[in-house]
Amino acid sequence: MDEEKERLQKVIAQAGLASRRGAEELITTGRVEVNQEIVRTLGTKVGPHDHVSVDGVPIEEREKLVYYLLNKPRGVVTTNHDEKNRHTVVDLLSDVSQRVYPVGRLDYDTTGALLLTNDGTLANELMHPKKRVNKAYLAKVKGLATEEQIQPLRQGVVIDGRKTAPAKVAISRWDHTKNTSMITITIHEGRNHQVKEMLAKVGLPVIKLTRQRYAFLDLVGLQPGEYRALKHDEVKRLKEGNYRNLRRK
Ligand code: URA
Repeated sequence: MDEEKERLQKVIAQAGLASRRGAEELITTGRVEVNQEIVRTLGTKVGPHDHVSVDGVPIEEREKLVYYLLNKPRGVVTTNHDEKNRHTVVDLLSDVSQRVYPVGRLDYDTTGALLLTNDGTLANELMHPKKRVNKAYLAKVKGLATEEQIQPLRQGVVIDGRKTAPAKVAISRWDHTKNTSMITITIHEGRNHQVKEMLAKVGLPVIKLTRQRYAFLDLVGLQPGEYRALKHDEVKRLKEGNYRNLRRK
């Protein structure tokens, strides 16, 4: 019956495989088949008896796209499988059945905001240097930091022969008895151990590091080891490239 039929892009979006716009793109780029035939026409109607597949895989067999924000605790590795059999961030998402991957990496001893998803397209986009996704860190460092010390980080410092992009950096606190300082630093690059190396370069070795924010996603309501699914609107903003933090502290 015709009333049971739905627009193809709606069916794909409802299966959780893409946003409505993403589904349209899948169709127009020839990745969608209906009853074994490629369909590139938007608005094609399909019913319950039509076989819809994307990249050759029937939509009912494809995994729903899921997005989680984890407050990574210390002592877990940011990978899906660790050769040394250490705990991984993926082990922490105990009630997630989909095979998700971390977007980028936090060191074993770094805590904080880490995104995990099975949406490879979005993950690649977010990790692309051109996208300049801001990551805000709070670092506890050795020594009483001075403005003169942190100033070079605002211009960029050379690490492994390459200058870092200008960072936003400020001293937020000193602990005179313990001889330590708290530094906030925001970068958009994602080089290995970047924050630790940048701070070490200006004579402020990192004792503890937390990522407080990834794009606009912060740790409010999440204790270390806890995670939550992203809200529909948050996923939408990430897909649209709208990474700004609206709740600026
Ligand atoms: N920079 C670091 O040095 N370590 C991290 O885990 C993240 C950024």
